[in-house]
Amino acid sequence: MIEAGETIISLKNVFKIFGPDPRGRAFDLSNAGVHKDEVQRLSGHVVGMSDISFDVKRGEIFVVMGLSGSGKSTAIRTVNKLHDITSGSVTVDGVDVQALRGKALQEFRRETMGMVFQHFALFPHINVIQNTSYGLKVQGVERRERESAALKALDMVGLEAYANNKISELSGGMQQRVGLARALCSDPPILLMDEAFSALDPLIRRQMQDELMIIQKQLKKTILFITHDLNEALRLGTRVCILRDGKVVQIGTPEEILTEPANGYVAEFVQDVDQGRVIAVDEVMQDAVVVTASNTLIEAVDALGSRGGGFVVDANGCPTSLLTKADAGVALAHGSTTLGDVLRSDFETTLSTQRLNENYAAAGRGLPIAVINDAGCLIGELEPREIMEEMGRVEQLIDGFEREVFL
Ligand SMILES: Nc1ncnc2c1ncn2[C@@H]1O[C@H](COP(=O)(O)OP(=O)(O)O)[C@@H](O)[C@H]1O
Ligand SMILES: [Mg+2]
Repeated sequence: MIEAGETIISLKNVFKIFGPDPRGRAFDLSNAGVHKDEVQRLSGHVVGMSDISFDVKRGEIFVVMGLSGSGKSTAIRTVNKLHDITSGSVTVDGVDVQALRGKALQEFRRETMGMVFQHFALFPHINVIQNTSYGLKVQGVERRERESAALKALDMVGLEAYANNKISELSGGMQQRVGLARALCSDPPILLMDEAFSALDPLIRRQMQDELMIIQKQLKKTILFITHDLNEALRLGTRVCILRDGKVVQIGTPEEILTEPANGYVAEFVQDVDQGRVIAVDEVMQDAVVVTASNTLIEAVDALGSRGGGFVVDANGCPTSLLTKADAGVALAHGSTTLGDVLRSDFETTLSTQRLNENYAAAGRGLPIAVINDAGCLIGELEPREIMEEMGRVEQLIDGFEREVFL
């Protein structure tokens, strides 16, 4: 599903200790695995990050998710060296970021990444286009060129018409769009977004998420996205990294986080999520039984085996009708043996790339659902019972973890 891109951002065993002597006892304790609360009690130092490693691949949306204070902002700030680190390494496109200083650091930040924060940090006294193009202005880009770049960026976030408005005339959601346009304006390969949507109303927030995903697809940016909201993480993330108390708890695709939570902490988190929104049909579908139209009803039922139904397909492999075991059972009980009498054409279809939740209504009819590809060919089958079982799987996992003893 996901193209395996090369690593563009890499954190290796990064520690960040806050306090007067970050490499002293606090580091030794944290390095030995002592919890940050205990490190603070013993040394008076705050552990921001403890042995954090992750790789962000080119072109993915990598989401770092965790509760407040888990180290998300600290982590993202090591990537553009707003923070020095205590130990470990941070590389971006092969460059040792922590070794950069002065002009080289400025250039690196300017050319490699755009940042979007929760608080928009826009200048109220200048208009939208000036805010958007501000970074280019600082770089000495000539006015016409920077305004044309800004208009392009504003167009991407749907704000072209507001180019000449004052910031104070825009809603919060629109201001955040300007923040995004500003980050896009200089066309950096990487976007760093720290709780960029966290202050927005739920509806606007979803719209922004959708737009970000569209922009990411079009422009193929690499996005390091920080959030404290698991739903947002699972919705946006190509992969998600869950932090707790300065440590990595799990890194995985949304599907992996939901279906194979690393421990009870993650399982607790995921129990409130509608997993159907994340799990794709092709992950749970089964091979479909193809029913031969010239068969007798008894032969066809035989072919179904343990499945609840099978499909008749045309010469192109597209499903044309459905035989359910239930229909067949009723017909056989009434002495019918002709397959054609029992086939139904009112079956549901789904694409293998759709999500399970898009099939809840169809599943509610109780009939097997034909899974088709873009060409309409039958490639699998979903049984309503299996959708429900898949949904129940995480509940069982949580029950399992609740019996487990963990920190
Ligand atoms: N400049 C700082 N000085 C001291 N402690 C800090 C500083 N910045 C962050 N911290 C501490 O580091 C931990 C991680 O903070 P942060 O990365 O801001 O968390 P998050 O972004 O996940 O809410 C917290 O315990 C926080 O109090
Ligand atoms: Mg933060």
